[in-house]
Parts: sequence; structure tokens; C-alpha cells
Amino acid sequence: MKQYDITIEGPAGAAFAQQEGDTILRAALRAGIGFPYECNSGGCGSCKFELVAGEVDNLWPEAPGLTDRDRRKQRLLACQCRAVGALNIRVRPADEYRPRVRPVRQTAHLIETVDITPDIREFHFRTDTQADFLPGQYAMLEIPGIATPRAYSMSNLANTQGDWHFQIRLVPNGRATGHLFRRLKPGAEIGIDGPYGLAWLRQESPRPIACIAGGSGLAPMISIARGASAAGMLKEGRELHFFYGGRTPKDICGETILQSLPDYARSIRYHPVVSMPEQIEGSTWRGATGFVHDRVLGELGERLSEFEFYFAGPPPMTQALQDLLMVQHRVPFAQIHYDRFF
Ligand SMILES: Cc1cc2nc3c(=O)[nH]c(=O)nc-3n(C[C@H](O)[C@H](O)[C@H](O)COP(=O)(O)OP(=O)(O)OC[C@H]3O[C@@H](n4cnc5c(N)ncnc54)[C@H](O)[C@@H]3O)c2cc1C
Ligand code: FES
Repeated sequence: MKQYDITIEGPAGAAFAQQEGDTILRAALRAGIGFPYECNSGGCGSCKFELVAGEVDNLWPEAPGLTDRDRRKQRLLACQCRAVGALNIRVRPADEYRPRVRPVRQTAHLIETVDITPDIREFHFRTDTQADFLPGQYAMLEIPGIATPRAYSMSNLANTQGDWHFQIRLVPNGRATGHLFRRLKPGAEIGIDGPYGLAWLRQESPRPIACIAGGSGLAPMISIARGASAAGMLKEGRELHFFYGGRTPKDICGETILQSLPDYARSIRYHPVVSMPEQIEGSTWRGATGFVHDRVLGELGERLSEFEFYFAGPPPMTQALQDLLMVQHRVPFAQIHYDRFF
């Protein structure tokens, strides 16, 4: 297979090779380079770079991660570009992006599925080699017939059997989720490329933990809770507050999974909140209503800055939490870890 040499110019320069068919971003991370990124999906704009010399194949020129100004300045997204020859590029790598586990691409087979809510389903895949990732990370799923891979977070923990569990929400008219829910049958083959993502469990932190999930953000928060329990972080009665925001009562989920953890009764507090309770006629929901970030403030109040925060979900939810924590309550950035699901 062809490969192309890519040189990062500048004081923090580096060189790596990109295999034909890979993206510049994923090739850099596979080589252990701290190339800035977040979503791997064209949405966030963190992986912008300048092309100094050479040619690329741009997979998604209209990707929302680029502004008009970026396009005028001829900036490109490394997660949406492939080198088609040797390249010189300009970007500033940083240690925080350096992968703790180097991503690899593997072939996987669907073992089984389990329905969690009317529109969230857990998919169990198995690879021949081990499943190596940190709690809270995601992988890119290469789904047959879908032109570009999609990001999905693992809900389980790393294991030597090669088990990868994903909790995926069916998106109305979604191409990848439509295929996963309607066409993929046990035994089917897909590609799993990972791990990626920066919102992984900080085991060295002595702080109480807050996990906040909205909608399809369930999986990485379940993985963080599982990881904290498995690492013995909740043994001395350290608190883990798990917030789950759904639109209607039928969307609320996650508690039964948490109840199976040995620390549930002693350390884990589950706080569901529903934003549109009236959407279900005859609903008997007596729990909290409103937005999940308001529930976080209501429960943790003045103690916000004591916590290590992990959150995942749609950009409006993550934006509201960033405002609450970083701007209004000045929780130090180093205690806040999140993934925006574009
Ligand atoms: C870091 C991260 C983790 C995620 N984890 C989860 C999870 O655990 N569970 C879950 O349910 N969802 C998760 N998502 C969302 C998921 O990746 C998909 O966006 C979602 O399932 C919708 O996919 P779809 O193909 O069904 O919808 P569609 O509307 O068909 O596609 C939407 C997505 O496809 C990509 N896309 C669209 N057009 C193009 C194009 N021309 N070229 C390249 N890419 C394109 C974009 O990423 C876009 O957001 C995550 C997203 C991110 C970024
Ligand atoms: S990492 Fe490329 S746009 Fe988000």
C-alpha cells in the first residue's frame, strides 16, 4: 500500500507517514503525535492546519468545522483530508493531544444488540485482538455502504477478549444509524478504528466525580462510571453523581446499568431530568424537569469547584455546561473533560 511523507514545519516540527486511504489526523495520532483534535468528524474545527506544499483530497469541503474566514485563509481540517503525495503542513502539536493509547484499525463482527430505550440500542462487537482504550474514549466505526466513518463512544472497559460495546441513538433519517439499526445483523463485519478522544477518566484525580450525559452521550459516561468503580476510586465512599438528561420520560436510562456496579449504593447518585415531560400524554413522571445543566447546579450548588467533571452530548448541552462551569463558577479548566457529539 502507498504511503505519503508528511512534515510538520515549525519549532515543534515532526514527520510521519500517512497510508493511502487514512486521514492526516488519524495518521498523525497513530504515529504518537499530539495533533490537535476533538471530534474526528468535521464538526469542531480543532484539527485545522495550513497546507504549505503538496496536495490533499478534501473529503468534506463544506464541513461545519471550518468558518468562511478559514476557507478564505485556505485552512483545512486534518480529520477530513488525505494526502495524495508528500506534504508540508503547519500546525502546533501539543502534549495534551498525544494519544495515551495509539489508535489502530481492526475488523470487528456484530455479536448481539440490546435495546436500552425506544431509540438507544447497545451494539456488541468483537475483534480478534484486544480492545484497548481508556474509559470515556470513542472509536470511528466504518460501516459498509456509508462513505465516511462515524464516531461512537465505548460504554464498556478495555478488555483482552476484544469486546467493544456502543450505545447508539437512532437519528431520524440518519445514514449510519439507519444502517446500524435496520440492516446490520449478528455476524456482520465492520471496521473499528480507535481509540480517540480526550475526555477519558483521570484516575489520579482525588476529587468527587460528576458524569453528565444528554441523549446519546450515555455511553462514555457509563464507561467513566465503570472505570472509576473498577479502579477502586469509589471504595472509600467518594461520590460519583451521574446526571442524565432526556427529552421525555421514556428516554431516561442508565440507572439499571449503574445499579450493577458494586459501589452503587454507597457512592453513586443518579439524577435523571426530563426537558419535555408533557410530550408524553398521560405521563406519570414525578421527577425533575428542565435542562440537565440546571439540575447539576441544583444538586452540586456551591460545591461545583470540588468536582472532576466529565460530560458528553449535543453541542447546546455541552455549551450550557461550559458556560455554567467555566464562566459562571470558574471551575478550573483542568477539571473539565467533555466530548461534543456533532
Ligand atoms: C466524539 C463523538 C462521539 C460520539 N459518540 C456517540 C455515541 O456514543 N452514541 C451516539 O448515538 N452518537 C454518538 N456520536 C454521534 C455520531 O457520530 C453520529 O453523528 C450520529 O450517530 C448521526 O449519524 P448518522 O449517520 O445516522 O446521521 P447523519 O445525519 O446521516 O450524519 C451525521 C454525521 O455524519 C457526518 N457527516 C455527514 N456528512 C458528511 C460528509 N459529507 N463527509 C463526512 N462526514 C459527514 C458528520 O459527523 C455528521 O455529524 C458521537 C459523535 C462524536 C463527534
Ligand atoms: S477534529 Fe476535525 S473538525 Fe473536529
